[in-house]
Amino acid sequence: MTITKVGVLGCGLMGSGIAQSAATAGFLTVARDVAEPLLERGRTGIVKSLTKLTEKGKLTAAAKETALAKLSFGTDLSGLGDCDIIIEAVTEDLEIKNRLWQELDQLCGPATIFASNTSSLTIAAMAAATNRADRFVGLHFFNPVPLMPLVEVVRTVTTSPETFQRAFDFARALGKEPVAALDSPGFIVNLLLVPYLLDAARALEHGVASTSDLDRAMQLGCGHPMGPLALLDFIGLDTVVKIADIMFDAYREPRYAPPPLLRRMVVAGFFGRKSGMGFYDYSVDPPVPTGLGLKREQ
Ligand code: CAA
Repeated sequence: MTITKVGVLGCGLMGSGIAQSAATAGFLTVARDVAEPLLERGRTGIVKSLTKLTEKGKLTAAAKETALAKLSFGTDLSGLGDCDIIIEAVTEDLEIKNRLWQELDQLCGPATIFASNTSSLTIAAMAAATNRADRFVGLHFFNPVPLMPLVEVVRTVTTSPETFQRAFDFARALGKEPVAALDSPGFIVNLLLVPYLLDAARALEHGVASTSDLDRAMQLGCGHPMGPLALLDFIGLDTVVKIADIMFDAYREPRYAPPPLLRRMVVAGFFGRKSGMGFYDYSVDPPVPTGLGLKREQ
């Protein structure tokens, strides 16, 4: 069965990016969130991103308008009843997600695939809450969604081979590069990325190098687009700590344990770019390293 209509739950940074990618790829796309202001913020972000892509010559003005015409926004779940696939990108809370899945399970036809963009929860725990555990997958996108080519297509113990293939082909139809992963904490990217990010925070905590030098070292020495501390700020320190805690709980390996510095920063409200303060202070342009009470000169 071909996919023509896509539902996206959650219109935050990830959800709006996913909706934008789906609409740009030509799918009829319905974005849903709980309140109008959240939808409005998502819609504004999408227009801004499409405009940027048009200015940079990556998208024609006509393609931008076509994408916008494919998009609709609403607070009601009923608009998602006839979607061929629903991608969920709401807050990382299993109860909230499962309440939505159970409601949609009643609304949607039997062919609709349910896909979660979770980066830390178990796909099996969501699939089990529905009567379509065989038609449940993970589709894990990366921030910023319109620019990052990767999608991890996650197969859990109950996912049928047909569902997995449809989801994989759908990710490709979005213009993304899908990779297959098992429903194991961290999938592929976070399994490798999270310990690296935690090690960078540990290196700073232990005085190995300054914030700028740690970041410059990985950018210039390994060709990474961002250094690890800038990337921590970009993803959000609270988000990384949450993912790391779940991975530590699952694997019981010290490499997944968030270092004390990271926890102190989260307690202090240093969430990174979104709060304006993290390893860098974003109140100035360009951002400058924050002191963090460390002895070493930053
Ligand atoms: N839509 C359209 N354009 C966008 C955009 C968006 N959403 N976000 C950024 N851009 C534009 C910028 O505005 C900028 O345009 P100009 O050149 O005209 O200024 C352009 O893209 C390039 O951005 P920057 O100049 O800021 O810098 P850059 O060349 O370093 O690119 C980046 C930015 C793509 C984010 C790059 O730094 C990068 O790839 N960083 C790593 C990101 C990463 O690792 N993401 C994964 C995080 S992990 C995750 O998401 C999953 C998880 O579970 C935690």
